[in-house]
Amino acid sequence: MEWAERRAYSSPLRERRSGWVDWNETTGKETLSQIKTAGGDGFFVRADVSHLEDIQTAVSKTLELYGRIDILFSNAGVNCFKSTLETEESDWQRLVDINLKGSFFFAKAVARPMIEQGGGVVLFTSSISGVSGEDDQVAYSATKGGILALVTAMAKDLGRYKIRVNCLVPGPVDTQQFRDWMSSKQNRDVAIADAIDSTILKKIGTPADVAKAALFLVSDDASWVTGTAMTVDGGYLVRH
Ligand SMILES: NC(=O)c1ccc[n+]([C@@H]2O[C@H](COP(=O)([O-])OP(=O)(O)OC[C@H]3O[C@@H](n4cnc5c(N)ncnc54)[C@H](O)[C@@H]3O)[C@@H](O)[C@H]2O)c1
Repeated sequence: MEWAERRAYSSPLRERRSGWVDWNETTGKETLSQIKTAGGDGFFVRADVSHLEDIQTAVSKTLELYGRIDILFSNAGVNCFKSTLETEESDWQRLVDINLKGSFFFAKAVARPMIEQGGGVVLFTSSISGVSGEDDQVAYSATKGGILALVTAMAKDLGRYKIRVNCLVPGPVDTQQFRDWMSSKQNRDVAIADAIDSTILKKIGTPADVAKAALFLVSDDASWVTGTAMTVDGGYLVRH
């Protein structure tokens, strides 16, 4: 019967081989070393995700070394802590190029090899700002809202090739980007207290909180999950 024959694509996450892409060589190499210490294997490619040639270099290198690409986690992103009246054309262009164009063209670049190998998984990173909007991150909110539309469109488009497409919707997470946001406020300590209070669980998330959700979405445990946005925000969105 057709339903039995159309088995879901199975990704070999257990092989733990990864290509790590970042435009920051220092932190990128640190991350690769952590991957290797944890028993994984991988390589680092210095690349700017807003440059199509850089994306192609990263994809070609992965295919050269591993012969296939099972999972794309498109997570690189930048913010700009500006209101509508403060946002310049250059701010808008930078955010659209990195957050939206980079995500789309990286996914497009892996789609062909994934189709040829019989399937794959694409995971993007949106943000609570893309759902509820932030008055001091207007352009950023727009790019992260765009990711939500990209997920539904690409999930419909690529599903026929057994490529699943989803995204994470993180709330405030303790990373460099979050610290920069807090520092952009008039009173940093009050801003941090407000951010904690904005969640139901009264806690800023950790990178591990988000990574665990990402691991689920790219694993075979989520083999029937596509076109979805998984909120990982300590309950921020239901309060806003
Ligand atoms: N931290 C939060 O509170 C939060 C909340 C919601 C969504 N997000 C999103 O999560 C993702 C990860 O952000 P983070 O908080 O870890 O921020 P971060 O600034 O700590 O890390 C972002 C990473 O992306 C890399 N990067 C940025 N632009 C790049 C480019 N053009 N090419 C290649 N690499 C590039 C940076 O070098 C850095 O390693 C982003 O998409 C961000 O928008 C973060």
